[in-house]
Amino acid sequence: MTEQLTAVGAARSGAGLQAAGSCQLRAVDPLVIEACGDKIILSSPRLARRLSVGPAIAGIVLQGRDGIDPAGLPAAVLERLCEAGFLIDARQQPDPLESPWREWGTTAWSFYRRMRDTHFVSKGTPEAMREYVDRIATVPRPSSLRACASDRILLLPRVRCGLDVPFRTVLEGRRTHRHFKDEPLALDRFSDLLHYTFAPLRFADAGELGTLQLRAAASGGARHETEAFVFVFNVTSVQPGLYHYDNIRHGLEPINENVSRADLEDITHRQGFFQNASFGVLTVAMAERMSWKYPHPIAYRMMLQNVGHVAQVFSMTAMALGLGASLTGAVKESVAEPLLGINPPGELITFALACGKPVVQPEDGLPYAIRLPRTAPDYY
Ligand SMILES: Cc1cc2nc3c(=O)[nH]c(=O)nc-3n(C[C@H](O)[C@H](O)[C@H](O)COP(=O)(O)O)c2cc1C
Repeated sequence: MTEQLTAVGAARSGAGLQAAGSCQLRAVDPLVIEACGDKIILSSPRLARRLSVGPAIAGIVLQGRDGIDPAGLPAAVLERLCEAGFLIDARQQPDPLESPWREWGTTAWSFYRRMRDTHFVSKGTPEAMREYVDRIATVPRPSSLRACASDRILLLPRVRCGLDVPFRTVLEGRRTHRHFKDEPLALDRFSDLLHYTFAPLRFADAGELGTLQLRAAASGGARHETEAFVFVFNVTSVQPGLYHYDNIRHGLEPINENVSRADLEDITHRQGFFQNASFGVLTVAMAERMSWKYPHPIAYRMMLQNVGHVAQVFSMTAMALGLGASLTGAVKESVAEPLLGINPPGELITFALACGKPVVQPEDGLPYAIRLPRTAPDYY
């Protein structure tokens, strides 16, 4: 909730500068100022409250970065700023920054603070609920299908491979595989992995929220905003190249046949996954599918949680199909976006996944590069 603070409103409160006395004041640190449209919002991850202010009040707080003398400034405004925690006694020692915010910085801390104790509309007032429902009715609902990337499509087989590996074996056997054999991957396995990770398995009628996809992975509000852009390198019967996976038609729409392993290696900071992987996937979130239903910053966190579920289904299904998978969030978006032909800011890259026939250690099937501890360490 953002509160309004205007010089007039504060002056009407009339009280003197009791909180701060007549001492020197300084601004809370860190101080975050968002200037957006005609609004200026003050916040600090140290504080629960956010204040919507005009330029004059924002100027007072900014001035407080170097310490200000309250004499001559509007006492009621200073009092409100002190009471909300934006101005404090300059003699007061600020609490030291603690981990993890000391390392992760103000941006991450502010985001976390903004998410904390989010008010969900279903628990709010009837007016808030009505306003929300009106909004859903008037803002056009984004499609749960992405427009075709091409007018051609390579339809994939709809036979299903055997998946009779005991669940415990999948749980215990899933590992991150970063080294693969450069051998062709059977089309049916490739097709199954895309189907179970990215395609709907059922549909649900959600009234004014539309017809929802139900996939193997859970997804906040079943918004299922994740789309798959597939880089085929060595899959039987599929021409290498970059495709968009159409999850309703279960097929690959060609985008670019000239992409190489080197392209995906470069995009993922040369970690080596794609040197021999049979195929790779860049997952892309169609953010509007989320923001339409959830017009609050917490939806961004949910979106990242959603793709974690997708990636876990990918890894576990790969394992059950006798394949290996790895993933990374270390992606050069500005290189990848034009290659995929996606439209930021509505379409956001979220993950890179690799899959292939893993190189394993013969004795236990563990990934090639894993070393098991041999001695008891002094410190664990
Ligand atoms: C969100 C996320 C990001 C990851 N990023 C990388 C990465 O950039 N490079 C990498 O080699 N492994 C990455 N991994 C894989 C982890 O390093 C791996 O899961 C971990 O070492 C444990 O191994 P295990 O998956 O075999 O249990 C990532 C995993 C997750 C969940």
